[in-house]
Amino acid sequence: MKAIVFGCFGGPDVLHEAEIEVPQPGPGQVRVRVRAAGLNALDGKIRSGMMEAVRPTAVPAVPGGEFAGVVDALGEGVRDVQVGDEVLGWSDTGAYAQYPLATTIAPKPSGLDWQHAAALPVATETAERVLNLLGVAAGETVLMHGASGGVGTVALQLAAARGAHVIATAGPSNQDYLTALGATATVYGEGLVERVRALAPDGVDAVFDLAGKGALEDSLTLRGGTERIVTIADFGARALGITFSQDPRNVRPSAWRRPRTRRPESSSPLSPRTRSTRPPRPSRSATPDTCGASSS
Ligand SMILES: NC(=O)c1ccc[n+]([C@@H]2O[C@H](COP(=O)([O-])OP(=O)(O)OC[C@H]3O[C@@H](n4cnc5c(N)ncnc54)[C@H](OP(=O)(O)O)[C@@H]3O)[C@@H](O)[C@H]2O)c1
Repeated sequence: MKAIVFGCFGGPDVLHEAEIEVPQPGPGQVRVRVRAAGLNALDGKIRSGMMEAVRPTAVPAVPGGEFAGVVDALGEGVRDVQVGDEVLGWSDTGAYAQYPLATTIAPKPSGLDWQHAAALPVATETAERVLNLLGVAAGETVLMHGASGGVGTVALQLAAARGAHVIATAGPSNQDYLTALGATATVYGEGLVERVRALAPDGVDAVFDLAGKGALEDSLTLRGGTERIVTIADFGARALGITFSQDPRNVRPSAWRRPRTRRPESSSPLSPRTRSTRPPRPSRSATPDTCGASSS
């Protein structure tokens, strides 16, 4: 099958198309013929090597955490899904491929096109998980840092559907977008505490940091403590006693390993495979296996 792969960590230029083995579904897994794959900020962080300290990835690897497609094969013990079902879900083996494997899927709503369906799993799971953690309820005021992106677009609408009032930050060009989604919009950056206090004189009940761009200190000031503040992107959270939330699927060490492939004898890690062996373990050294190229 065709897949997008990376054989070392670096910028987008480390991504290449390659012909790789079609994986066979194991117990509890399905194989899906992908119609659309979602792209997430995490994909770039993993590809760059930025996540190696907390979430090592064995290379060569196929990126991509989410997809929409048609079930193509069933593993042992899968009973409630049929070949031919239209689904969306999380990939176990990388979604930038024609036939990824998955253990977590949901039926694709019939009115949704493939592209929109593929963009749902990560953003909706993350948004709902954090709103639940924060206990957001009707009548409350929630501050969302960086809400114009993939997760924020969903989180803002789900919070509004709960009856909460959302004050959301974004760059100047996304203010109208936030307003159209139902938020009271303001820009991020210097003076944020004063702007939010003017918009919410009675204070904010909860803070959802989606950006990880240094807004936690302001959040502590606005909340008067660490309670009901959650970030999904700021690794400085724990030092401040603030909750960092992540999907358990994202810390599973095998989640991004390409199944049953081997390094070729040739110099390119991306040549076609004809035999199946386990890929090498990921490097645990402080310096990821970079290509010597850009690392954004
Ligand atoms: N822990 C988890 O479970 C989990 C799950 C999913 C995603 N994530 C992480 O969460 C983050 C957001 O994901 P995403 O897919 O929504 O990303 P995204 O689509 O790239 O959105 C990023 C958002 O950050 C805003 N932003 C940029 N600079 C900012 C600043 N200085 N202050 C405040 N906001 C700023 C952007 O606003 P403008 O474009 O308007 O400037 C945009 O709204 C990423 O870091 C991702 O890796 C974590």
